[in-house]
Amino acid sequence: MSQDEAPPIAGDYDLSTPIPSTSGLRQGLTSYGDAHFSLFLRKVFVKALGYSEDALSRPIIGIINTYSGFNPCHGNVPQLIEATKRGIHLNGGLAVEFPTISVAESFSAPTSMFLRNLMSMDTEEMIRAQPLDACVMIGGCDKTVPAQLMGGISANKPILPLITGPMMPGSHRGKRIGACTDCRNNWAAFRAGEIDIEEISEINEELAPTIGTCGVMGTASTMACITAALGMMPLRGASAPAVSSARARVAEETGANAVRTAREKWKPQDILSKESFLNAIIVLQAIGGSTNAVVHLMAIANRHPKVQGVITLQTFEEVGRKTPLLVDLKPSGDNYMNDFHNAGGMLALLHTLRPLLYLSAKTITGQTLGEVLDASPFKEFPLSRQIIRPLSNPLYPTSSLVVLTGNIAPNGAVMKASASKDRSLLKHKGPAVVFANSADLAKRIDDPDLEVTKDSILVLQNIGPIGNPGMPEAGLLPIPRKLASQGVKDMLRISDGRMSGTAGGTIILHVSPESAVPESPFGIVQTGDIITCDVESRTLRLEISDEELKKRIEARVAATKVEKKPKQRGYRGLYERSVNQAQDGADFDFLTADGGERD
Ligand code: FES
Repeated sequence: MSQDEAPPIAGDYDLSTPIPSTSGLRQGLTSYGDAHFSLFLRKVFVKALGYSEDALSRPIIGIINTYSGFNPCHGNVPQLIEATKRGIHLNGGLAVEFPTISVAESFSAPTSMFLRNLMSMDTEEMIRAQPLDACVMIGGCDKTVPAQLMGGISANKPILPLITGPMMPGSHRGKRIGACTDCRNNWAAFRAGEIDIEEISEINEELAPTIGTCGVMGTASTMACITAALGMMPLRGASAPAVSSARARVAEETGANAVRTAREKWKPQDILSKESFLNAIIVLQAIGGSTNAVVHLMAIANRHPKVQGVITLQTFEEVGRKTPLLVDLKPSGDNYMNDFHNAGGMLALLHTLRPLLYLSAKTITGQTLGEVLDASPFKEFPLSRQIIRPLSNPLYPTSSLVVLTGNIAPNGAVMKASASKDRSLLKHKGPAVVFANSADLAKRIDDPDLEVTKDSILVLQNIGPIGNPGMPEAGLLPIPRKLASQGVKDMLRISDGRMSGTAGGTIILHVSPESAVPESPFGIVQTGDIITCDVESRTLRLEISDEELKKRIEARVAATKVEKKPKQRGYRGLYERSVNQAQDGADFDFLTADGGERD
């Protein structure tokens, strides 16, 4: 028995010697000024749950239970907990589940992103506070996986993400449909009068036919693939459907891995490196992943003291220039996550990407990524090559996601170029039609008198991290109804907000600094101004002189000094005071690796 494993019970109460361990039940004792009494009291209470000394002497593996009646994406969490416990107990650990908050996209006002940092704080603090030797973190819906990775990396105890998995696609009049790319396509068709109210009601019944996360390459699936690429979970854990038996086996395997990870004390800050993040970004580009993942990956990277400042927005651009889009899934392509899984999933993708990957990156298995791939060869078959293209025949040559800069986005903006529906808009010059905020957009976008043509550029301000706390996914501005009904399907749209990973179009997002910052050049764009976007040269420019730009900013700063906003209380106040900009991950400044000391 090692010194860190269970000492004799008597040792716990021997007042002449210090508590002999920093693991299991003996770690992180509540402060009463008498450590032996703290442990004695802890055992009194834990025994109320019926645990024996034998059970309590095992490595303690926490399981974060994020089941919620308001989170259908996590609807299988109870089954996953059962399977995870099986894996833990079969391998000599003790499973102890506990709750944290759970955040689902459609049930979180103002946005789930507003609550991501709160969930990361909950996750970090509960992992820190409780006597865990390792922790399985069950997440799935868009913001839960990044929140858990952010919190887990900051807590820096052994952590094992476990994803709930994608839902299955549904069927409408003989066509497969699935949340949520098809939610948006069909809603746009309904707005344009192409389908009627009866049909949209039928479609509503079929878009999410099972529990699980959105079944396309939206933010949830993107974060699942990225978590696997970071080396933090079994590769098939990224894509096994939520309702499959494979998903339960991934949970059992994660439980088994957790016991080993606890014994080996593999901490996330030791496993994750610059190379792990480069692999994650390669995968992000190759899957045509969600633009939201750029914000989340920046927040995750900036929690790691050795990676903060090493991975920047420009890293996404540099990696993108060398990485083709290979995965044919909606919204960039045509298929669904269960197709990706059946085609070989992340194992097939990583074998295909092998020449581009950093194979020395560590993984949660104790092996390097290269060793993991060597141990699991993949033999391709026709479906695998249809869904996961070879490097020689990509879906999109390079740079699925691009980073643009220019006088209205000096700190960058992001576009999923591969999801553009009208590629001519990737090089476009046109007059701006500016909406001051979401309410202004809702009021005027369908006004028949709105002066707008298909060549106009729709600009939405004040939906950035501070401007509309939580940075809503309102960046996919709807096509004005009068243009939609004429058949216009895509326009160039620019905002400082985000867009759902399931959405498509020629959309520029995350403009930084956001317009709510008084000095923001994006905040001074006016209706009628000419904007030029050139994706090839990665530029986004407002066609006014530097003097005019400066004059407008100075006038705006002076006006902002006069109007004072009321101070917000509670979490909202904390959010507004502490959130950083999109290019840094929209995290709280006091939570990043350089945000201060933490004992
Ligand atoms: Fe939860 Fe899409 S709404 S993953």
